Amino acid sequence: MEELAGHVAVITGAASGIGRGMARAFAAEGMRVVLADIEPESLETVRKELATDSAEVIAVPTDVSQADDLDALADRAYQEFGAVHVVCNNAGVFSSGLTWEQTLDDWRWVLGVNVMGIVHGIHSFVPRMIESGEPGHVVNTASGAGLVSLPGTASYNVSKHAVVTLSETMAQELAARDANIRVSVLCPGAIDTRITQSERNRPRALGSTRKTRTDERLSEMLQAGMDPDQVGRIVVEGIRCDRFYILTHEDLRKGVELRMRTILDDGDPAAHRRRRS
Ligand code: NAI
Repeated sequence: MEELAGHVAVITGAASGIGRGMARAFAAEGMRVVLADIEPESLETVRKELATDSAEVIAVPTDVSQADDLDALADRAYQEFGAVHVVCNNAGVFSSGLTWEQTLDDWRWVLGVNVMGIVHGIHSFVPRMIESGEPGHVVNTASGAGLVSLPGTASYNVSKHAVVTLSETMAQELAARDANIRVSVLCPGAIDTRITQSERNRPRALGSTRKTRTDERLSEMLQAGMDPDQVGRIVVEGIRCDRFYILTHEDLRKGVELRMRTILDDGDPAAHRRRRS
């Protein structure tokens, strides 16, 4: 999709971090923007910020883990702007812990937001986008964690690998039926956002998570990470060039190569850790 000005973009998880960065980049391109997030106050702050730059923007409080919320978001977007061209299924949460120690509620929460949130977004928007016949683009936010398997974050890894294969599958299905809709999977490396404070949005009914050393290490790493506004600009460019895999950091490719090499060589993914002990 080369022409973005005047077109309509919907972004989930738009109240913070990468979602906010994408919203700012889309608005700068002259797009009309629909912001969705579970945090109504931060969402309103971002809406006001974009509106003062004279962007056409609306904010719709949305919990992506709830299918009805995504239907309502789609209804609102079509009512307000009459069309939807770009959908960024971006809202996500993070939880760490050893695979056998993460609670079942940790798993339910992470998969409910990171995987079902995207499934809901696709379910509510893509049939209408196909029907409209207008050009469209779906951007699903996965992660470098969707391309490799690092220890200490199993539920997150599983959710992000799911987003990568979901995107690869859907791209082929859309191509096979000649739909005018492209797909990208965004795989960021370290970005300076609030993802390690995801707990703030965890439903009370699911209890709390234990902080681990992985959280501390990751927080430090992310503070030195890429500016989310830059990710927004990378996504704009990715949509313009119809790039499927949008990787924000070149070194992610090395991890992919190593993983594929291990699979092709019938190797052991834990070998290097075993040698260290
Ligand atoms: P963030 O925490 O700054 O932003 C995430 C946004 O999602 C927040 O505004 C939050 O309120 C919203 N959210 C959480 N649960 C929600 C729900 N149930 N319904 C609707 N909105 C919800 O974090 P960040 O980093 O901007 O996260 C965006 C995406 O980027 C996530 O999918 C994350 O997994 C992914 N990502 C982030 C990386 C990083 O280094 N920050 C690296 C790779 C991927």
